[in-house]
Amino acid sequence: MNYLSQINKANVPQHVAIIMDGNGRWAKQQGEDRVFGHHEGVNSVREIVEACAEVGVKYLTLYAFSTENWNRPKEEVDALMELLVATISLETPNLNKNGVKLQAIGDLKSLPQSCQDELQESINITANNSKVTLILALSYSSKWEITNSVKEIAQLVKEGKLKPEDITSSTIQKYLCTANYPDPELMIRTSGEHRISNFLLWQLAYAEFYFTEVLWPDFRKDEFFKAILSYQNRERRFGLTSDQITNN
Ligand code: FPP
Repeated sequence: MNYLSQINKANVPQHVAIIMDGNGRWAKQQGEDRVFGHHEGVNSVREIVEACAEVGVKYLTLYAFSTENWNRPKEEVDALMELLVATISLETPNLNKNGVKLQAIGDLKSLPQSCQDELQESINITANNSKVTLILALSYSSKWEITNSVKEIAQLVKEGKLKPEDITSSTIQKYLCTANYPDPELMIRTSGEHRISNFLLWQLAYAEFYFTEVLWPDFRKDEFFKAILSYQNRERRFGLTSDQITNN
């Protein structure tokens, strides 16, 4: 099936967020260790970034490492960090060639220094690209992010720079690490889990959710295009009635 040709290019989500899940189970199915699954997962990342460029998705946020992932066995955490450094280093010329701008959200200071340095270098090198913005969520959790936003706002109130009655949802948004990006219209989670696991809780308020049984290493371009098609067949009502939407 050629899913790409069925996509209406005029109604592509501007921002897609993905929880890449199932690397460990995929590796087990192959009789390999979990880290092998993460390595194969990188090939899916590459394909999905390319797919975004092909179809016109402007922002792609990938949940690459959650705050909770620090509690995994040390060998797996170390392997994931090494993989991140190696992948960013290897892929940066390719990202640059394809007009991809790299960004990162999360508690980046908690990452190993080598990872922070590699990330910053790639962010600098790709800063002027504009075809797709690839946002890696690293040591990220939404509750951490919202707590930080509230702390910053409380500080402004304490210093007399902001009145509590002037706080709106835009104020909270302004202090999230995603302040510079539009909210995702589509959130995809692979591997059959139906949770959002502390990912973009605020930003996904009106997103469409797409869950698939496919494990992340098997989630390639066609699966992504299928998710976009599913999104295009939905009616987004934002709390209104169906009649209000069609009469508009
Ligand atoms: C979830 O699968 C995957 C992760 C926690 C890590 C995702 C990382 C990559 C795909 C590689 C590096 C990414 C980039 C952006 C370079 P899991 O381990 O939870 O799988 P399981 O649920 O089957 O155990």
